Amino acid sequence: MKIKVKLLFAVILAIPLYLTFLALQTDIAQAIDEHEADHKLMESSPEHETYEVKVPESKLAEVKALKNAVASNNNTLSEAKAVYGGKGTCFNCHGEKGKGDGELASSFDPRPRNFTMPAWQKLRTDGEIFYVITNGTDHGMPGFGDMLSDEEKWSLVNYIRDFGKHSGLASKK
Ligand code: HEC
Repeated sequence: MKIKVKLLFAVILAIPLYLTFLALQTDIAQAIDEHEADHKLMESSPEHETYEVKVPESKLAEVKALKNAVASNNNTLSEAKAVYGGKGTCFNCHGEKGKGDGELASSFDPRPRNFTMPAWQKLRTDGEIFYVITNGTDHGMPGFGDMLSDEEKWSLVNYIRDFGKHSGLASKK
């Protein structure tokens, strides 16, 4: 009789324990699935490309530290605007207002950068932007190497910064 009572208790205890175990196990499996799905989404979404570092690791520290050689004022911004919409051809892809919506934008994946995104503006130093204008990226941004002078490129960096502000020359039509 005593043995039977013990057995009964054991069964009563064991069932909820087993159920808890099962529940936990499916939770963990689900969490892992969700994590993997998030990861895949991040890798395939344009967001991922937007924030990915564009400068080779070996040059990153040096490039990040470069100082803009051109002051940002109405004069230099007007000059940059002329390059952006003229021989630089930037507007064809990045759009007149820098929103990444130029005429050719839809043929690129990732899309040409939208310069009005605050998170992107914060992430990049002037040096990194200068580097990309000079060398391009592996994903569609052409390098302008010798086509533009260093002065023009630094002015474009200021102009791109201006797109990130809500006032200023670039956002005015
Ligand atoms: C033929 C289309 C095209 C033209 C013209 C073009 N771009 Fe781009 N640009 C792109 C694409 C596509 C990307 C996104 C590339 C990537 O994410 O790797 C990009 C990205 C950028 C970035 C962001 C890089 C980063 O660090 O995230 C900057 C800055 C930039 N372009 C500046 C310019 C400037 C300035 C000009 C004109 C001198 C210009 N682009 C002309 C297509 C273009």
